[in-house]
Amino acid sequence: MSTAANPDSLAQARARDAADPLRGFRERFALPLDERGAPLVYLCGHSLGLQPLAARALVTEELDAWAQRAVEGHEHGGRPWVPYHQNLAAGLAELAGADPSEVVAMNSLTVNLHLMLASFYRPRGKRTRILIEAGAFSSDRHAVASQIAWHGLDPEKTLIELAPAAGSDLIEPAALEASIARHASEIALVLWPGVQFRTGQSFELARIARAAHAAGAIAGFDLAHSMGNTPLALHEDGADFAVWCSYKYLNGGPGAIGGCFVHERHSRAQPRTSHGGGLPGARLAGWWGHEEDTRFRMEPEFRAAQGADAWQVSNPPILAAAPLVASLMVFTAAGMERLREKSVALTGFMDELLRPLASRLTIITPRDSAARGCQLSIRIAGGAGPGRRVFEGLRASGVVCDWRSPDVIRVAPVPLYNRFEDVQRFAARLAEVLPEHA
Ligand SMILES: Cc1ncc(COP(=O)(O)O)c(C=O)c1O
Repeated sequence: MSTAANPDSLAQARARDAADPLRGFRERFALPLDERGAPLVYLCGHSLGLQPLAARALVTEELDAWAQRAVEGHEHGGRPWVPYHQNLAAGLAELAGADPSEVVAMNSLTVNLHLMLASFYRPRGKRTRILIEAGAFSSDRHAVASQIAWHGLDPEKTLIELAPAAGSDLIEPAALEASIARHASEIALVLWPGVQFRTGQSFELARIARAAHAAGAIAGFDLAHSMGNTPLALHEDGADFAVWCSYKYLNGGPGAIGGCFVHERHSRAQPRTSHGGGLPGARLAGWWGHEEDTRFRMEPEFRAAQGADAWQVSNPPILAAAPLVASLMVFTAAGMERLREKSVALTGFMDELLRPLASRLTIITPRDSAARGCQLSIRIAGGAGPGRRVFEGLRASGVVCDWRSPDVIRVAPVPLYNRFEDVQRFAARLAEVLPEHA
């Protein structure tokens, strides 16, 4: 077994990098440096992905189009702005496992979640409840609680928050199924993460969608930590809707345009010319969801675009979408299958190097690669105090990862730009820092 302290582990990491068919992709990203110009060990793609070098040219292209063409850039130029979102559909569909007509880049995650809940959370009679995970991402909880209240219901009585079994950080898929079945007559909607942000646990979406549908509920997913991280098959899995942001594994840049998936069975079921159409799926509308050919007639009657495009409300932020075009080109060149293969190997290597440190830390992320993506979540023995000091010690030694309250260090080797050597360096620094602080 390799250990972080074992000098062979660096040689081993370098040999694995030399044999990595994706090693060249690292050169397509801007690698952050410390104050002395030395590369940092960046393991924080689960929070903010690195900048694809091609992003600068694509943003500049749009700044130039704006400078040179001004308003005519909407219709003319290399990538006219009116149909700009179409530049993203094929790449997003590939990563989401969807038809391009089922995905749309728009807004940001929580806004998209509200739009999806407006369409898919329609409490009726006894069926009013929303099931989420206890400890869900705060913004998701705010969104569902406020939607419940907006419908005149009491969030405290209407929200079901499923916690892990005592003594565990993880939610067993069978426990989730049992909870859905137990509340079958009252659940309107299940909102679940693809990968849980704090623990890194990855869920089988098909299984959750099946359980929700068997209970007569809608299955919606927050894929903030899944898109570009784990392979997805949203169409086949039968998800009703999904939302994501693009600044993490999708490398779209800070505040990048988010995305949405709406299963085609819902867009097909909606009338194209009225707003109160068959449930579930009736939309809140805006002019960008109007079909493109007739949008600029500016007529008062709405005529929905085909597919997920109909959920667009406003015209998109072009400068926040251009870097994502660049990033999706890199994903297409690398291929999700190869990325996942490398990801499993990278995270497995990290896991292997950290196991000998087990007396001082716990990896709370599942060990089974099928139940995790890139990220490992680590809890330092002794609790939040020593944990925070270890985290700060890591940063002082050139490792960028992050801290999630109350006591978790999150680390993610990303296969597009991280090397086995980064993983080894992280593990070696952690082994040095641990005895000083924990
Ligand atoms: C799991 C999860 N949900 C929701 C959000 C909120 O995203 P936004 O600010 O794009 O709405 C984030 C942001 O990091 C997230 O990680």
